[in-house]
Amino acid sequence: MMSIIKGLPVRGEIYLLPIKKLRKHEMEGHTNERQGIAAHGKTHVMEDDFDGEQVGRHYHFGGGCFVMKYVVINTHPNNESFNYAIQETAVSALQEAGHEVQLRDLYTLNFNPILSVEDFAGSKSGQLPDDIKAEQDLIRWADVLVVIYPLWWASLPAMLKGYIDRVFSYGFAYSMDNNGLNKLLVGKKAILFTTMGNTETHYEETGMFDSLANTVDKGIFDFVGIEVLEHRYFTSVTTVDDAERKKMLDEVKTTLRKLES
Ligand SMILES: Cc1cc2nc3c(=O)[nH]c(=O)nc-3n(C[C@H](O)[C@H](O)[C@H](O)COP(=O)(O)O)c2cc1C
Repeated sequence: MMSIIKGLPVRGEIYLLPIKKLRKHEMEGHTNERQGIAAHGKTHVMEDDFDGEQVGRHYHFGGGCFVMKYVVINTHPNNESFNYAIQETAVSALQEAGHEVQLRDLYTLNFNPILSVEDFAGSKSGQLPDDIKAEQDLIRWADVLVVIYPLWWASLPAMLKGYIDRVFSYGFAYSMDNNGLNKLLVGKKAILFTTMGNTETHYEETGMFDSLANTVDKGIFDFVGIEVLEHRYFTSVTTVDDAERKKMLDEVKTTLRKLES
């Protein structure tokens, strides 16, 4: 077995996933219904009868390819934006690699980002509203969160901030006791893509990247135990040309593929 990028599974580990997902891999050269060579050239073996439901065991021989569960969170009101192009690139890259992907496009979902009095009470009593429970179930399910957002006022868009406020609730994402903080989402990973109008030089010189790492990577994700594998900043996106934007989209794919090498 060879270990791969920090904290991720080692070669040979097996993941259970619904068989219908495996069939989406455009398999070729099946020897029977339960075995085939996927589009990326690795062998799949499937089994069924897990808790009465058909499932597949999916593993690859001789390669560094693993089926993982990704939740992709996008926060942009305009579906013609560059952030949307990142979302589409990321989702296709992950699906083409055979991963399971759940997309949370917060504006399209019309997610309510306002933390209410009831939400506060619910996080103490354990009686959370259904929309929060649904998001928490997805995060429980996920191995990796891919979070895509534009930098607005040197921070997260309010929609994403509100998602964090409501979904990363006390008792789900963290708790406190006499020994201090309990990080309840340890074991999960995150990859973040942030676009911005400012230049890289300006934000390097002003220490903005350090501030963002402190407030977002450490202040939010590390606080609840989620390891940020990569936070990729795309600078000057409002002024660069299409060729430059295309390179950035290629970097999205490369960043996601790094986890499999
Ligand atoms: C409300 C708002 C606030 C913004 N604040 C910043 C900022 O603080 N720093 C920055 O570099 N760009 C800022 N921008 C520029 C956006 O980051 C930029 O338009 C976005 O990343 C471009 O991606 P898009 O085409 O997907 O929207 C802001 C844009 C808006 C609309």
